[in-house]
Amino acid sequence: MVPTSPLLDTAALKKGLHTKKFGQKIFSFETIDSTNNCAKALAGCWAEEGTLVLSEEQTAGRGRLGRTWQAAPNENLTFSLILRPNLPAEAMNLLPLYAAVAVAEAVEKTTGIAVECKWPNDLLIQNKKAAGILLEGSLKEDKVDFVVIGIGLNVNQTTFPPDLKGRATSLRLESGREVERAGLLRAILRSLEAHYFTIMKQGFHAILPLWLSRTRMINKQITVSQDGATLSGVVTGLSPEGALIVRTNGAEKTLYAGDVSIVEL
Ligand code: BTN
Repeated sequence: MVPTSPLLDTAALKKGLHTKKFGQKIFSFETIDSTNNCAKALAGCWAEEGTLVLSEEQTAGRGRLGRTWQAAPNENLTFSLILRPNLPAEAMNLLPLYAAVAVAEAVEKTTGIAVECKWPNDLLIQNKKAAGILLEGSLKEDKVDFVVIGIGLNVNQTTFPPDLKGRATSLRLESGREVERAGLLRAILRSLEAHYFTIMKQGFHAILPLWLSRTRMINKQITVSQDGATLSGVVTGLSPEGALIVRTNGAEKTLYAGDVSIVEL
């Protein structure tokens, strides 16, 4: 069957991809519940590293902290990638930072738009969210068995539902131009693969400075919602494990999860 969307033409997508593994196996759908669900099921059946699951529409797209991911069909990029890194379980907190840097670099190179990282795994343009990353994994004996990196990137969508108004943006809104999605996806896959090979060889210290250079959170006053409680403080840095370090009431706290708002003064 010929796909209705050019993005789903996997042979065309692979042409000019120039990766070793990432995107060399592609499962593409017109519609699916969630590409992360599909990728997790495939990873459980031994799908190889670099397998890509791509869909034009998700009927149950998921975000972090139990939220939904809403994206208009045929205008954006919603995909998941299977990784099988040889890493200890603790590295799970570092992988979103790696993915954020890789996607930010690819978007910037392709479109010329400056992209900022917000801990733990959002990409912002002009303070509005342009992409979210949902990392889900499976552990075996304290080691990572597989990881699914799910990425939702607002590409050509120009209107957003009322609950996202003023908080979400897209590459088209920021550049004033329609962005060719297949080329952008290829650039993202290349960037994800290049940085992945680097961190596997050199460790995550290769990526943390790149993430830090893309955030304006350091020294900023923030509030963090975590398990129903709210904490306020000033961000002082990132731990080597990828946690956010916040000074609050004279003491330093290390945060591994949470929903962070930057307080504009
Ligand atoms: C977030 O901002 O909370 C993360 C959003 C992640 C959305 C992507 S879209 C592709 C993949 N499939 C999902 O169900 N979620 C991720």
